[in-house]
Formats: sequence, C-alpha cells, structure tokens
Amino acid sequence: MSTVTAIIRDDARLVAAELARELRPLAGTTLLLTGAGGFIGSYLLDVLAAVGREGGGPPCHVVALDNFRVGLPERVQHLAGHPDIEFLSHDVTQPLPLERPVEWLIHAASIASPTFYRRFPLETIDVNVNGIWRLLELARRARAACSTSAAARSTATRPPR
Ligand SMILES: NC(=O)c1ccc[n+]([C@@H]2O[C@H](COP(=O)([O-])OP(=O)(O)OC[C@H]3O[C@@H](n4cnc5c(N)ncnc54)[C@H](O)[C@@H]3O)[C@@H](O)[C@H]2O)c1
Repeated sequence: MSTVTAIIRDDARLVAAELARELRPLAGTTLLLTGAGGFIGSYLLDVLAAVGREGGGPPCHVVALDNFRVGLPERVQHLAGHPDIEFLSHDVTQPLPLERPVEWLIHAASIASPTFYRRFPLETIDVNVNGIWRLLELARRARAACSTSAAARSTATRPPR
C-alpha cells in the first residue's frame, strides 16, 4: 500500500479545520475505528489525528482496529506512537477486547477489493455480517452516541436503546 503524502496530510488538516465545529463532540471521547489500515480507515485516521490540533479542543482517543495481517501498513506508520491513537490488532468477527468504553464507532473493516473477495468469499461474508454484528453489539452495550458503517455504504445508525 502507498505511504502518506504531503497532499494527504494537508487534506486531513483542512478537513479537520473545516469540520472543527461538527467534530467538537468528539473531544475527550473514545472512538473505535475498524479497518484502520485500509483505504478509508487510514484517511479517517489522519483526519482524526488532526482534530485536536485543528479543532482547538482536546483530541479524542482513537482505538484503530484492523487485523493487520501483514503488520502495520506503511500508510499509517507515521501515526505509530501518536499519543491519542492506539493500534489494536484484532479480527473484528471475534469478541472485541476493549479496555475502555467507547462513545463512537466507525466500521470500515471489510474485504473490499474484487480480487480478494472473489478469492475469499466466505471470509468476506464473515466480516460483513459478523463484523458489523460485533460492532452493533458493542454499540448497544456501550450505549454509543453514534455508529456509522462504511461497509454498509455510509449508513449511519443509532443503536437500539
Ligand atoms: N473505497 C471506497 O471508495 C469505498 C466507498 C464506499 C464504501 N466503501 C466500503 O468501505 C469499506 C472499507 O473500504 P476500503 O476501500 O477502505 O477497503 P480496504 O480493503 O482498503 O480496507 C479494509 C480494511 O479492513 C481490514 N479487515 C478486513 N477484514 C478484517 C477483519 N476480519 N478484522 C479486522 N480488520 C479487517 C483490512 O485489513 C483492511 O485494512 C468496505 O466495506 C467498502 O465496500 C468503500
């Protein structure tokens, strides 16, 4: 996978600054991002890393989950050691080993490329069905403020109370 570029960094900073008001509710909370090593996840991670700086408030703590089958991808290496980002290597279809309550969930873990979902059809169904099941289970338990799933093509949901 590609590495982070100056364009992505600037873009993430601009998005965080532009959305500072909308993103303010994230301040001081914990957000779980699945698929953090992927295309969408890594971009979101850059935006979230910029939120505290550009939004002027305290940043949020991000649990960046991915199965990281081949290790921490080069694309997010620059965020290793970031004080507000905790990388968690885990399969999202399995019970989630979270050590702190989370207020926000973004689900972007998936096998998204046709090359791979043709090769791994059952694993693709597994992550799309059981992965989101785990996330919604967690959202209900944690009474998360909001969860959203890139895997369901950007469907925002509120968990049942
Ligand atoms: N890329 C787009 O333009 C786009 C647009 C709309 C929706 N989506 C959807 O968003 C989701 C993410 O897309 P992407 O392009 O970032 O995909 P991607 O393949 O780049 O990233 C997916 C990430 O999920 C991780 N993953 C896969 N199975 C996992 C598991 N069982 N446990 C933990 N992590 C796992 C992979 O390691 C990878 O890092 C997909 O469902 C896709 O259909 C993508």
